[in-house]
Amino acid sequence: MTDPVLGMNEADRRATADPERPDTILRYTAGERTNHWLVAMCFVLAALSGLALFHPALFGLSGLFGGGPWTRILHPFIGLAMVVAFLFFAVKEAAQNRMEARDWAWLRHIGDVVNNREDRLPEVGRYNAGQKLVFYVIVLCLTALLLSGIVIWRAYFSLYFPISGIRVAAVLHAFCAFVLICTIIVHIYSAIWVKGSVRAMTRGTVTPGWAWKHHRAWFREVISHAANSRPRSD
Ligand code: HEM
Repeated sequence: MTDPVLGMNEADRRATADPERPDTILRYTAGERTNHWLVAMCFVLAALSGLALFHPALFGLSGLFGGGPWTRILHPFIGLAMVVAFLFFAVKEAAQNRMEARDWAWLRHIGDVVNNREDRLPEVGRYNAGQKLVFYVIVLCLTALLLSGIVIWRAYFSLYFPISGIRVAAVLHAFCAFVLICTIIVHIYSAIWVKGSVRAMTRGTVTPGWAWKHHRAWFREVISHAANSRPRSD
C-alpha cells in the first residue's frame, strides 16, 4: 500500500534505495520515474505534432512525423497515450497535492520564493504550493484537451457533434494546449532552478540537505517514519 505521507510504500523504498549512497533519500521509485518520463515524451511529441497542425508557419514540423496525413493520424493517439500515462502518475501523486494552510501561507510569500529567501517561508511538505498548482493546471488542461479532442477527432467522433460544437471545441483545444505548454515551460524552469531536483527524477534520490532546504516538513516526516520503522535492538 502507498504511504500517504511519503508517497511510496516501505518495500519500494528499501528495494530501490541507492546502495552506493545510503545517505540519500528516495523521492521517486523507478516505476514513478519511468511513468513521469513517458508522460514527458508524449507531451513533447503531442506538442510538436499539435503545433504542426495549428498554423501553416509551423507545418514543417510535420516532417518529424512522416508528413501531414501521418501527423493528423498520430497526434490524437499520442495525446491519448499522454492522458493515460498521466492518469497513473496523478493517481499516485493526488494525495500529496492537497492544498493545506501552509501552502496558502507559502503563496502569500511568493516574493520571498522568487527572491530565494527560503528561510522566510513556512515549512514545505513533499510538494510546495507552486508544484501543487502546476499539478492542478495539468489535470484541468488534460481533461479539457481530452474532451475537446474527442469532439474534433474527425476520423471517429466528429460526425456525432454539430459543427458549432466542433468549432468551440477546436478553440478550447488550442487554448488549453497553449496553457499546458506555458505551464510545462514553467515546470521545467523550476526543476532546473531548484538545484538537485532533476536528480530526483533521474536517479530517484535527493540529498538530506536538499530535502531540508526545500521540503523541510517532508524531510521531518521521512526521518520520523524511518526512525519508527527501524527494528528495535532491545
Ligand atoms: C519535459 C521535461 C520535463 C522535465 C525536465 C521535468 C522535470 C521534473 C522534475 C525534476 C520533477 C521532480 C520535482 C520534485 O520532486 O520536486 C518533476 C515532477 C513532476 N512532473 Fe515533470 N518534467 C518534465 C515534463 C513533465 C510533463 C510533460 C508533465 C505533465 C504533463 C510533468 C508533470 C510532473 C508532475 C505532476 C510532477 C510532480 C510534482 C512537481 O514536481 O511538480 N512533467 N518533473
